[in-house]
Order: sequence, then C-alpha cells, then structure tokens
Amino acid sequence: MIRLDKYIAHSGISSRRRIKQLIHDGLVTVNGESVNDSGMRVDENTAKVYMDGQRVYYRRYVYLMLNKPAGYVSAREDRHYPFVTELVPEEYDYYRVYPVGRLDINTEGLLILTNDGAFAHKLTSPDKNVYKKYFARLSRPAEEADIAVFRAGMEFKEFTAKPAKLEILDDPREVYVYIAEGKYHQVKRMCDRVGKSVEYLKRVKIGSLELDESLAPGEVRELTDEEMRLVFAQEDIFAD
Ligand code: URA
Repeated sequence: MIRLDKYIAHSGISSRRRIKQLIHDGLVTVNGESVNDSGMRVDENTAKVYMDGQRVYYRRYVYLMLNKPAGYVSAREDRHYPFVTELVPEEYDYYRVYPVGRLDINTEGLLILTNDGAFAHKLTSPDKNVYKKYFARLSRPAEEADIAVFRAGMEFKEFTAKPAKLEILDDPREVYVYIAEGKYHQVKRMCDRVGKSVEYLKRVKIGSLELDESLAPGEVRELTDEEMRLVFAQEDIFAD
C-alpha cells in the first residue's frame, strides 16, 4: 500500500504540484470513487486510478533516453557544471533517475537514465558484453593497421580492454569505435594509443539500441518496450 500522491507521481505523467491540485479539485478517482485526500493509501497492485478521466498506472521504474549535449556532466548533481538530470522533465522528478555509465562533459549522444539499479548494473558490467558504439572525429586519419590494434584488446594501467572494433569511414579522420566497457576516457585513450587524438565524440548505440536522431541535443523521452529489449540484444559486431 502506498500513498495516492506517490502512486500517481510514479506514473510519470504529471508533476507533484499538479497532482496535489488535481486531487484537491476532486479530479482523481480510485476504484470508481472520487477522492480528495493525497495521503490516502492505495494498493499499487490492484488499484484502478484515474486522473482527469485518464487511467494512471503505477510504475516502479522508468527508463529514459537522453541525447546528451556537450557541456553537461553525467551526474545527478554538480557544483560547477550543468548536469544531465537537469534535462529530465519535472514529471519524472519522483523517480530520481541517474545516468547509466558516464559520458565525458564534452561527449554527446546516447545516454540512458533510470532508477533501476539492477538494469544499470547489467548494462555497465563488462561481462555482459554490451558493446557501445561511438562516432569519433580524429586529429589525423585512421589507418588500416589501427584496426588490428583495437581488435587485439588493449592493456591500461587499471584494466584490460576487451577486443574493440574500429571502423574507418569514407573520410578516414572519422571512425566508429565499439567498446565493451566504458572506463574513464576509454575511447580517447584507445585512439591516443594509435597516435590520434579525439576531437569530437558522440555515442550512437548501446547494444542494438540506436540513438533516436530525432531527439534534439538535450531532449529526453522514455524508451519503448522494444528499445528496452534492443539494449541487451547484442549483434555480433565482429561478424564481417
Ligand atoms: N570514451 C571516452 O573517451 N569518453 C566518453 O565520454 C565515453 C567513452
């Protein structure tokens, strides 16, 4: 049993303030009865709650896709810089989502935010082999020989990177890099290893989930059920 205002807040459809107002105005019904007590206890498994005529479903977790803009840190808060949760619409406040893994402040692109710890753990664990794909623009053209260096895996002082894929695009200063982990500055360090520095970096894919390019930088939306599945549906990236 949980409080009615909490139940509705956990549906992600309205802000806490508006919910209180709607309950106060008698626009919320529970099991067919109009109610006006925000603190009333409801059974989150069986209650039929309607708000302003619309059915409201309690959800414990929420999963959001953000097209991260440069200039934001991947954290719930920061004293010096803007942080990604500032970009999350207020109706999700109640979930207290946090970013799954980190993109550097100047990295753009696909970032998932959730309040589901088990999901976050699964996604960031290198053992699960969820490859993350990045588009990078380099200071110098990538060379064919670099591909094998990435493919062999790389030793760093705090970890050994699993085999990674380097795909050279038509303009050889532009590449896709696929990595299984997401260690500190990993893509930048791997490119440095072959003598190129990264001038621009954007994550475009996690597992088989692609960044929705129709999301403008800074925009957020919920993942669909199909997209949730794609996150862990890893293609064989070394296939061809
Ligand atoms: N690798 C990096 O170097 N930076 C990122 O933001 C992500 C991966």
